[in-house]
Amino acid sequence: MSKKDYKRYLVTAALPYANGPVHIGHLAGCYLPADVYVRYLRATGKDVLFICGSDEHGVPITIKAKKEGITPQQVVDKYDGIMKNAFKDFGIDFSYYGRTSSETHKKTAQDFFRNLYDKGVFKEEITQQYYDEEAKQFLADRYITGTCPRCGNPGAYGDQCEKCGTALSPTDLINPKSALSGAVPVLRETKNWFLPMGDIQQSDMFKEYIKRFEFWKSNIKGQCNSWLTEGLQSRAMTRDLDWGVPVPIEGADGKVLYVWFDAPIGYISATKEAMLARGSSTSWQDWWKDEETSLIHFIGKDNIVFHAIIFPMMLMTHGEFILPSNVPANEFLNLEGDKISTSRNWAVWLHEYLIDFADRQDELRYVLTSIAPETKDSEFTWKDYQTRVNSELVSIFGNFVNRVLVLCDKYYQGIVPVSNGVLSDDKLQAAQAVCFKQVKESIANLEANLESIKLRDAQAEFINIARAGNKYLADTEPWKLIKTDAESVQVILVDALQICAKLCVAAQPFLPHTAQKLAAMLNLQSLSWNLLQENVIITAMHALGKAEILYKQVEDEDINKQLQRLEDIKKANSVQPVVSAVNELKPHISYEDFDKLDLRVGKVIAAVKVPKADKLLNLTVDLGFEQRTILSGIAEYYQPEELLGKLVTVVANLAPRKIRGIESQGMLLMAGNDFGKLYSVGPEQDIEPGSIVK
Ligand code: MF3
Ligand code: ZN
Repeated sequence: MSKKDYKRYLVTAALPYANGPVHIGHLAGCYLPADVYVRYLRATGKDVLFICGSDEHGVPITIKAKKEGITPQQVVDKYDGIMKNAFKDFGIDFSYYGRTSSETHKKTAQDFFRNLYDKGVFKEEITQQYYDEEAKQFLADRYITGTCPRCGNPGAYGDQCEKCGTALSPTDLINPKSALSGAVPVLRETKNWFLPMGDIQQSDMFKEYIKRFEFWKSNIKGQCNSWLTEGLQSRAMTRDLDWGVPVPIEGADGKVLYVWFDAPIGYISATKEAMLARGSSTSWQDWWKDEETSLIHFIGKDNIVFHAIIFPMMLMTHGEFILPSNVPANEFLNLEGDKISTSRNWAVWLHEYLIDFADRQDELRYVLTSIAPETKDSEFTWKDYQTRVNSELVSIFGNFVNRVLVLCDKYYQGIVPVSNGVLSDDKLQAAQAVCFKQVKESIANLEANLESIKLRDAQAEFINIARAGNKYLADTEPWKLIKTDAESVQVILVDALQICAKLCVAAQPFLPHTAQKLAAMLNLQSLSWNLLQENVIITAMHALGKAEILYKQVEDEDINKQLQRLEDIKKANSVQPVVSAVNELKPHISYEDFDKLDLRVGKVIAAVKVPKADKLLNLTVDLGFEQRTILSGIAEYYQPEELLGKLVTVVANLAPRKIRGIESQGMLLMAGNDFGKLYSVGPEQDIEPGSIVK
């Protein structure tokens, strides 16, 4: 909204589907900007709650479960932890990270639904919905794909086209196809409860609400206005599925809440849990029901319709809740010239980055904020990563701080000298004046940009502060001046120390790990944002800490390794999936020969890499009647955690064999081609371990 001071800030970041690890597109789209903004608010002393959590319902979860041959519950249990930890390791500092499978959430979502139901908000309708006769289920949301009637995207989902962002219903799709079987679906009657969005659009409360769009970013305003002009359609808030929050009314057996009904309510349930953890069962209401709270949803652009229109409609028809004061949505981040894609493995995975670039979180934060897709899609390349880190973080910021601290240590043994602030000649004074002016301007711009959530520009101003400091040193050359004018050097270095302190304060939102490190080097106790307005932060006789290098140079070999990885993925993705005829068939065998094999279904219950063996995984496989240790040469194709819970086919009577000192008690069947693909072969549906394969 326009500049207004709120009593408290409730900042949310879109609850990610718990169906895969986090990549840089997620980070740049929503989690990092939300974190930067929250850290800024916290530094200014604001009362902030930063809410996120795993979105554990919906078709994305059940599709993943099918793919991995495990249950939806196993999918969410696995990824909830992985995601939560990756965010934490990266320094995304949520106040609370919840899960939509929690009891609190179930109750909150059901109460919410019942509230609207009792008020008569929903339209109960029996409609024709697509049904897959092979898979015997209704095809909602991502279970059905087809061509978007609005933009012609052939890969639109049954609830949304991710290309143009429009909310769709399965029956809107042109040439619909089941995502389960590929079959053309048939229509069947079923009852569902619809949110009459077209009617709500005409209501006074909605018209009042959309006035606030005026203050929002133009990408959101534009999209919303174009949907509103076209006119909104009613939308089912229930689904004929078995994974989700059960619809809490009579006559709704076998139906669950639409995931986009339940998920945003997850923000409310997570707030309840966060406040309960702080010992209060009621104070969550301050965050959700008091007009003096500013509610801000950080999201990616594919979530706009749900956060700017549907969820607010739910909140306003319920009546007790505040509405969002801003919905900052980012566009998409591309990687090395191509769309980021989980299924094609075209991504930089956060957990992998954190291994390859250990303790270099701030470098990635810096680059992702520099290129944040705030107004249009943008692009991550490793070369650009290297350039930005080396020529900005290392050469400007890191270098400035290091020079100042090293000189203070050398000349004053780390004890801040006295400065009267006055330099001895015109040239020095002019350099000082230019520097002060620049620093002041940059700080003003930095704050203005942070206030209006232009984080990319804000961070550029942060670097400008360091740039001004560097120029001051270059113009005055204290390392030469020390021989002739020691008093002026004291003034310059004390000035420079104040700039270091300001950089330390201003670094907090963007580079939190660095801010901590620098605070120790400067021996600063408080990093309150107000300090940016002070002329003197570090006073005479203050003892400085030990100087350390803030950033390491990114070497060619660091990025070449990453580029090679992407190159390999591209190769694996681009080859034609034909199996070469060179693999000639083996000669006939008799049935008796075949029958000598004892093939069993096994379930992988543990998987670890074999130390110092690049290709080997050590698996524990449950055969129902016993557990086996099996070494398998598949480490280049599978991450150990991907295999957990997978059903595989085991050659159970293969003579045991010692490999690297470990006895391998069997072998897994794998399907491989000549183009570097390898997949484990398992039963199509869940079946007990130990089952015979014949
Ligand atoms: N899980 C959704 C996605 O990844 C986002 C849900 S946001 C919430 O696109 F508001 F519903 F929680
Ligand atoms: Zn479309």
